[in-house]
Amino acid sequence: MEVENKDLLVKMAISKLIVFAEKFKGIEVHLPVSGRYVKLNYSEDQFIEILRKLQQKEVEDVYIHYDDSEKIIAHAHEQLGAKAFYDPKTVDEQRVETVNAAMEVVKSVINQLGVNAETVKLLKTINTRAMALLSESPSIFAFVKRFKKNCSEEFLLSILTNYIMSLVIDQFPWKSDQVKEKGSLASLLCDVSLTKEDFAVIREWRLGKAVLPDHIKKHPSKIAEGLKRKRNLVPLETITIIEQHHELPDGRGFPYGIQGHRFNQLASIFIISQQFAELLHESTYDYEKRFELIEVLKLKYGSSKTFEKAIEALVTVIT
Ligand SMILES: [Fe+2]
Repeated sequence: MEVENKDLLVKMAISKLIVFAEKFKGIEVHLPVSGRYVKLNYSEDQFIEILRKLQQKEVEDVYIHYDDSEKIIAHAHEQLGAKAFYDPKTVDEQRVETVNAAMEVVKSVINQLGVNAETVKLLKTINTRAMALLSESPSIFAFVKRFKKNCSEEFLLSILTNYIMSLVIDQFPWKSDQVKEKGSLASLLCDVSLTKEDFAVIREWRLGKAVLPDHIKKHPSKIAEGLKRKRNLVPLETITIIEQHHELPDGRGFPYGIQGHRFNQLASIFIISQQFAELLHESTYDYEKRFELIEVLKLKYGSSKTFEKAIEALVTVIT
């Protein structure tokens, strides 16, 4: 979506606004009241206090001007590159929290307005920082156990997917940072419109216990469609991965039900990495179970040559 109207209001979670609030004391905050947006009366020095009071009244979101949302994106980016982020006195918990808050903010803006150059740039930085934090940990399992509480479950799964995918890509002769970035962007964008509850429904669907509502069924194609209009910002392979991330080689996936031979190697590596991260999550990150999980993947995806190659590479990584 192209944004023409600078008076446009953007919904922002109060909890995330608070993380970056120090720099935004002067921004206007609006609340929807009976179908209209009402500007809150506040003084700058009480900005955070007012947001906290709203939280106490169980208000989760406020509305801010589009221009201010752009400033917040720029500030979140700054925070991830700031001295404070790298300062040895900054504990890892805080770094994870900042990366997670930046993700929530950018997700909210992309979800309402589509991507632009700044939001894509921020996504790339978020991924780089998250990967660095993960690789500094003794293992991905230690990372997950330690940072579960500082990070949303969906974001944790995205960065875990990207970490696993990066190791799997390394097993192929065409490996490169550029290819990894294409996959990582897909992972951060593929579920941008879904809520926590939607993820729970997808898990139930996988077990045959739920029917997918339309908005979940169509999220891969809908998000991909929006990104196709921004081809200069997002690589085509990233968009293809997003379109295919819930497909299965037997044609029983969604939204299109495409068959095994239609997947390219990078998309199949992405799907295998994402599913492995999901299975690890479901088995409460019990590393001992990793080969059992591979068997589950083989049953579901092993009928296709490209998926088989991706699974073989994953086995090499975890052996
Ligand atoms: Fe998805």
